[in-house]
Parts: sequence; C-alpha cells; structure tokens
Amino acid sequence: MTLPDIEEKPLCGSYVAPNQPAHRARMNIWRGIAIGLSAMALFLTLYAATHLSVPLCMHDMRSGTARDQGDGRIDPGQLFLRIPSTDRLREHLQYYTSGTHVAGINRTQAVHTRDYFEAQGIEAKIVEYYPWLNYPVDQRVALFNESTHAVEFEAGLKEDAIAGDSASEDPNNLPAFLGLSASGNVTGQLVYANYGTLDDFRALKAAGVSIKDKVVLVRYGGILRGLKVHGAERGGARGVLIYSDPADDGYCIGKVYPSGPWRPESSFQRGSVSLIQVYPGDPLTPGHPATKDAPRLDPKDAKSLNHIPSLPLSYRDAEPLLRALVGHGKNASEISENWVGGLTSRGVEYWTGPSALSVNLLNHVEFKTTPIQNVIGRITGSEEPGRAIIIGNHRDAWCAGASDPSSGSAVLLELARAFGELMKLGWRPRRTIILASWDAEEYSLVGSTEWVEDNIDWIRADVVAYVNVDAAVMGSEFGASASPILKDLLFAATKKVAFPGSNETVYDAWLRQSQGDLVSDRADLDNEDDNGSFPDPNRAEHHTPPVRPLGAGSDYTPFMSHAGVSSLNLGFGGGLGTYHSNYDSFKQMTTFVDPNFELHQAMTRVCGLVVIHLADDAVLKLSPISYAKSLASYIRELERQVAGYTAASLNGTAMKRLHRLRAAQRQFLTNAHLVEQSKHRLRAVYGEDCQMAGRRRRMNCRKLRKSINDRVSRLERHFIDPDGIPGREWYKHALVGPGRWLGYDAQVFPAIAEAAEDHKWKMLRQYEKRIAEIIYEAAWFLREV
Ligand SMILES: *[C@@H]1O[C@H](CO)[C@@H](O)[C@H](O)[C@H]1NC(C)=O
Ligand SMILES: *[C@@H]1O[C@H](CO)[C@@H](O)[C@H](O)[C@H]1NC(C)=O
Ligand SMILES: *[C@@H]1O[C@H](CO)[C@@H](O)[C@H](O)[C@H]1NC(C)=O
Ligand SMILES: *[C@@H]1O[C@H](CO)[C@@H](O)[C@H](O)[C@H]1NC(C)=O
Ligand SMILES: *[C@@H]1O[C@H](CO)[C@@H](O)[C@H](O)[C@H]1NC(C)=O
Ligand SMILES: *[C@@H]1O[C@H](CO)[C@@H](O)[C@H](O)[C@H]1NC(C)=O
Ligand SMILES: *[C@@H]1O[C@H](CO)[C@@H](O)[C@H](O)[C@H]1NC(C)=O
Repeated sequence: MTLPDIEEKPLCGSYVAPNQPAHRARMNIWRGIAIGLSAMALFLTLYAATHLSVPLCMHDMRSGTARDQGDGRIDPGQLFLRIPSTDRLREHLQYYTSGTHVAGINRTQAVHTRDYFEAQGIEAKIVEYYPWLNYPVDQRVALFNESTHAVEFEAGLKEDAIAGDSASEDPNNLPAFLGLSASGNVTGQLVYANYGTLDDFRALKAAGVSIKDKVVLVRYGGILRGLKVHGAERGGARGVLIYSDPADDGYCIGKVYPSGPWRPESSFQRGSVSLIQVYPGDPLTPGHPATKDAPRLDPKDAKSLNHIPSLPLSYRDAEPLLRALVGHGKNASEISENWVGGLTSRGVEYWTGPSALSVNLLNHVEFKTTPIQNVIGRITGSEEPGRAIIIGNHRDAWCAGASDPSSGSAVLLELARAFGELMKLGWRPRRTIILASWDAEEYSLVGSTEWVEDNIDWIRADVVAYVNVDAAVMGSEFGASASPILKDLLFAATKKVAFPGSNETVYDAWLRQSQGDLVSDRADLDNEDDNGSFPDPNRAEHHTPPVRPLGAGSDYTPFMSHAGVSSLNLGFGGGLGTYHSNYDSFKQMTTFVDPNFELHQAMTRVCGLVVIHLADDAVLKLSPISYAKSLASYIRELERQVAGYTAASLNGTAMKRLHRLRAAQRQFLTNAHLVEQSKHRLRAVYGEDCQMAGRRRRMNCRKLRKSINDRVSRLERHFIDPDGIPGREWYKHALVGPGRWLGYDAQVFPAIAEAAEDHKWKMLRQYEKRIAEIIYEAAWFLREV
C-alpha cells in the first residue's frame, strides 16, 4: 500500500521530460554490472566457512552470544549475509506474480506460503478472519448532454494489454475499482478539485464553486484517496473520480511503460478508499477481531467507510472530462499554479467547472463477509521464548503486484529460507521470531489489524519489535520510517550491507540519495535558537539518513499505533510510476526496476540483519537516547505547526514554545542516559554474556541485563494513551499517528496539533499537559529498578 515517493516533480506543459532522470542513471550503472558470484559459489563459501568452525561455535550461537569480535565465535548475522540468493528471490517473485491474488480470493498462495515456511523447518499455520470486503461488479463513466441524452464520451475503464507482458493480459485482472468504495449510480455536473485536499476544497469554495450535487474529479497525490472522497462527501458531492495526472507519475516524470517505468495513458491506480485514519481493519469490527461469530456493526454505522461512489481513471479517460470543463467556472491557474496538471502539454486547460455536460458515474460493487488468510510462522526462541520479534509483509495485491507487495513477499520467503539454513547449522535465536504473511492489507490493513486485535494481550506483554516490509523494491532509493528507538540498529544494519553495483553500503547510498537529517548530538531544546540551530560554535552536528515517523501506510500501523510495539518499515522506492496497476508486473520489475534481483537481495540482508540482532543480541540495541533526540525534533515540528495556527488567529505571538513538552523531553533525555549507564556498567562489571564464575555474580548480571532489556523493549508501550486520539480512539500512540487530513502520512502529537488546527486553545493546553505526563511516565519507567 505504500505510496511511491516521487521527489523533484518537474512541471509538465512547456517542460520537456528529461531523458535520464537521476534514478535511471543510477539503475543503468548497476544494471550494466555483471552478476557477482553465483548462488552455488555462495553456498560453497557458506558451508566451507561453517563446517570449519562448527565444533567451536555452535554452543555459543545457541546461547545467543555469538559476536563480531574475531574471538573465534561465529556471528549469525555475518553467516546470514551470505545466504540470500538472487535466483531464489526471482523464483519467489515469479510465483507470487503469476496469478491474481486480490484479498480473500487466492487461498493457494496462502497454502504455498505456509508450506514453504514448513519446508524450512518453521512451524506455520493459516489464521483466518472474516471481514467485510467488496468486489467490483459493473462500472461506467460517461459524459452526456442532459437535454438530448446524447452520449459525448464513454470512458474505457480498462488498461491496455501490452504485448510481451502476460500480466497485462490476464483475464482475471480487476477493472477500474476502489476497495471499500460505496455502490451507486449517480449523475451530475462535473467539478475539478485538484488533489482534493482540505485546502483544495476550501479554495474551491472561496472561488465560489460549489460541489453540492456534483461529480468531483480529483487527481492522485498529496493525501490518501479515501480522504479525497470524504472531503467531497462532506461538501455534498454525489460521486468522485480520481485520476492519475501525467505530472504526478506519468510522462512528465519519465518514459512510460513499456518504454520506461512511468504510467502510460490507459493506466489507473486502484486502491482503497477506506478512512484509514479513523481506524484500519475490518470496517464492521473496530477494536475486535473479525472472527466468524464476532458481533458486527451495521455497515451504515461503520465510520471508516465513505458513502458516495468513486472510481479511478486513467489520464486518457480524464482528458475528455477536463476538456468539458474548459471555459466553465474559474481558470484553475487563477486559484494556484499548483492546480494545473501535466495535460497542458496536450493542449488541455484546467478549469474548475461546473461543466455544462453531465457525468454518469456507475460503481456497482458487491459487499460480503469473506474469509481472508494470514500465514503465521514461528521459530521459538531458545533462551527468552516469551519475547518475540515479528517480521511481516502483506501478500494480497490489486494486480500482479510485483513491487507492491510481492517484492516484499519474495524477501519474506527468502528470509524464511535463510533462517532455515541457519537452523540446519544449529542456530536457534535467543528470542522467538514470528514471520507473518498478511492478507487484505490493500483494503485497509485488515489481516494484520484483526490479528493484532485478536492477540493484543500477549503482543503488549511479549513483543519486542515489529519489522515491516511491504513494497521492498519499487526503485533504488532506500527509505525507512520507524520508531526512533530502532534508528541506531537500522543504521548499523545498513552499514553492513553492500548497495548493488557500487562500492557503497546501503547506508552510504541512503545518505547520498536523501538530503539527510541534521542531527545534533545535544538534543536539548532549550539551548537552541528559534530556528532549531545551536548557536554554540562547538556544537556537534552531523547528518544521518532521514527516518520518518510512522503514519498508517502499511501493516506496522496496528503494532505501533494500537499496541505500542516499536516498529520499523523498510523499502527501496522512487523508481516506478505504475503503482497499483496491471503494469506493476514481473516483466516491468525485471526490465526497469531490479533485473538482477540485487536490490531484493540487499533488502533481504537488511531486514534479516535487523531481525537477527533483535532476536539474538544478549542486550537489545534499542536506543532511548535516539528516541529522546527525535522527540526534540517532533516537538520542534509541532511548535512550528502550532505557531502557524496561532499566528492566524491570535495575532502571531501567542504560542511559540510548548514549555511543558520541552520540560518532559528534558527529563526523558536525562533518564534515557540512565539506560546507557546501565549498559556501560553491565559491560564493565560483568560482560553482556553473563557467563562469569560465581552463581551470585551471574544472577546479578542477568538481573541487570533483564532490567535493561525490559526497559528498552517496553518503552513504546508507555506512549500508549488508553483514551486514544480524540475522535479516532482506535489510534492510541500519543506521539505519532496518521494525520487527520493526510491518511497515510504521520502527524506528530496528533491530539495537540488537531486542537491547534481547530483553534481550541484550552483543549490544546489540556492535551499538552496530558502528553507531557505520558512522557514523564515513560521517563520514570527508564530508571533502573
Ligand atoms: C493463485 O495464485 C497462483 C500462483 O500465483 C496461480 O497459479 C493461480 O492461478 C491463482 N489463482 C487464482 C484463482 O487466480
Ligand atoms: C444508471 O443511471 C443512468 C442514468 O440515470 C441510467 O440510464 C442507467 O440505466 C443506470 N444504470 C444502471 C446499471 O442502473
Ligand atoms: C487559463 O490559464 C492558462 C494558464 O495561466 C492560460 O494559459 C490560459 O490562457 C487561460 N485561459 C483563458 C481562456 O483565460
Ligand atoms: C445539448 O444539446 C442541445 C441540443 O442539441 C444543445 O443546444 C446544447 O448546447 C447541448 N449542450 C451541451 C452542453 O453541449
Ligand atoms: C569500486 O572501487 C574500485 C577501486 O577503488 C574502482 O576501480 C571501481 O570503479 C569502483 N566501482 C564502482 C561501481 O564505483
Ligand atoms: C532564523 O531564520 C531566519 C530566516 O532564515 C533568519 O532571518 C533569522 O536571522 C534566524 N534567526 C536566528 C536567531 O538565527
Ligand atoms: C493584535 O495586535 C495589535 C497590534 O499589535 C493590537 O492592537 C491588537 O489588540 C492585538 N489583538 C489581539 C487579539 O491580541
């Protein structure tokens, strides 16, 4: 479900698309480089290396103390790095992309996944839930003259078959359809509303254009699709059409498929229009698992559903609609240049309407309670079986889904195989590892949400971290969002994995590809100036790759935002514009995105290393200090937003600093250092493995180690506010959540930011106080007891 990250969007129109966008130049470099060692050679190396040292090492590996120190003991992470095979990854991807696997309709792929786990020696089962989902039946978009009934244009609503790409010819491909969209057959005049953001609808209103009883045409981008429909519904619209403008992922960005990886003219973006920011999962069982006989809401009371029909459109189908608006209402460029899309290069002017012609929008869908299948694999830990690390990926896709999510499914299977190989060599992780292949993520993170709701008590008690991989390879730009507590571990893992076709590590490439975050080693908010810099000339600042806060873009959401489990989401992005279309195919992946499967391999290595560290390190490498530093930047970000809202309504100077939050952050930082001190003491006095002589010393060592691990692995739980975010109480994390008007994207301190946005100043103060208390409590928890 993760959206592709497309930066540096050039304007279309007079603009000429570059022949060599940056990402393509990079891809050419590595595409040109010959494949490295064959899988066979890797295996020979692996087995030689292991067999030489097995007698010495197996005991240590079993006790989870294998180290990287050249002291003769094998580091399972080092061994693991040699296992992932590009050939196997290719096979896995070929399997998942060879048949349709929309949620709930391909049990075969669930069985295959379970059997594959079992064949690697991993205990596995299929876990079913029964959510309320819909499937397309009939659809139409037409432009007609209301007085004569003459049809002026009938939209094709189909993606062209492309010779040589069998996925584009599959008769089972879904037509134009939006998941969880409402059924309806509506007619009205057309109005164009740009991206359909809250600001866009406000601008339209200010321009004197009403959307009441209209069919609203919006383009993809900016915010999640469900919110575009919601915004139109609030304004009284009858239906919504969402099209892909070439300026956003088509010919304005680069060559279109099959000549390049960008969206061709007949292509549309499927996807869900559920209101995920209200709650994800089954629309009828919020907060409870959708078991067979669970009590269910009446669908009309399901607050995560929109009520007006909606359909996606290609730019080929949108063009005649936009032309029907020309000369009606306001010239869109008078509202803002940001309202003008890329079809200007074909002579289309963007106007708001309403049109003189009418649009008929038919979206006939069938809703039903239908079984979905999660596959859950388990490797029971040898020493701390009660603590678990979960690595998950969704399996369902709108189409072949080569990048989203099958590249991630391929990574998950290859990880299972790699863990199986390590187990054959005698390895057992110290803690339990759970591998999860989720179903129905595309509809609204359904499989993962129902499973978390079903297992909430033991998840809150036992789960150390959740690692998510969705679209593992959608380009070659590494990206991550995470709880800040996992940042250091992620940096360490990416420094150990080579970036394909270069001498760089994934970390280096990630830093180079991004602007980087300026991080201060100080993290004390009160010594900085108003711009967030430190006037101190001796300041220690450096750049790290950016790790964004988590919103609601994939299956990490129920773990992070509902259960309070520290979570991490990973993927290579930035190189593909055919998201959620028939052209996100095996053919496209092997032609433009990752022909040699080396990016898949690099992603398998990064994910595996993160999981192995989390599962095997005697002392968890989770960093509360890193959390404290990010908390400082979250507060700065919030203050910027609050200052903006207060400036608009309270004369500019009202609220610049949130002193309560700042004070709480200061305490949190101080106590985060206490955990670091405990770690130093453990190392200096005992050693992390607690294998010294003397029963009493061993017990003291283990007690201290357990205290450290408990504090860092349960810290996230303390940011859970049982009352949740006001108005959408399913979301319980007080520091981050999906933005109310963003959808996928994260908002820091959502309760406070939304009170400010609503100009409810008293409430803002209350929430600030409440959340400061939550941070103090978390700080208190970090003390050694
Ligand atoms: C399910 O997926 C498998 C493997 O990709 C494929 O062979 C099969 O045709 C699919 N089944 C359906 C009903 O599409
Ligand atoms: C949808 O509505 C249009 C216009 O009212 C009507 O002509 C058409 O028959 C309807 N289609 C269906 C499938 O009900
Ligand atoms: C509408 O705006 C565009 C862009 O500013 C401009 O080129 C065009 O001439 C305008 N059309 C009319 C009819 O004013
Ligand atoms: C609809 O048809 C009538 C009769 O031909 C014509 O006068 C009118 O201009 C048409 N309306 C539009 C918006 O094309
Ligand atoms: C890697 O480094 C070697 C030696 O410094 C150099 O010859 C080679 O061109 C580099 N390769 C890439 C892809 O940068
Ligand atoms: C903060 O940034 C603004 C705009 O860049 C600049 O004018 C101002 O001098 C800066 N303030 C400080 C204290 O550096
Ligand atoms: C806003 O500022 C102006 C000029 O400084 C002042 O006259 C006015 O009273 C202020 N209004 C409020 C609501 O503080």
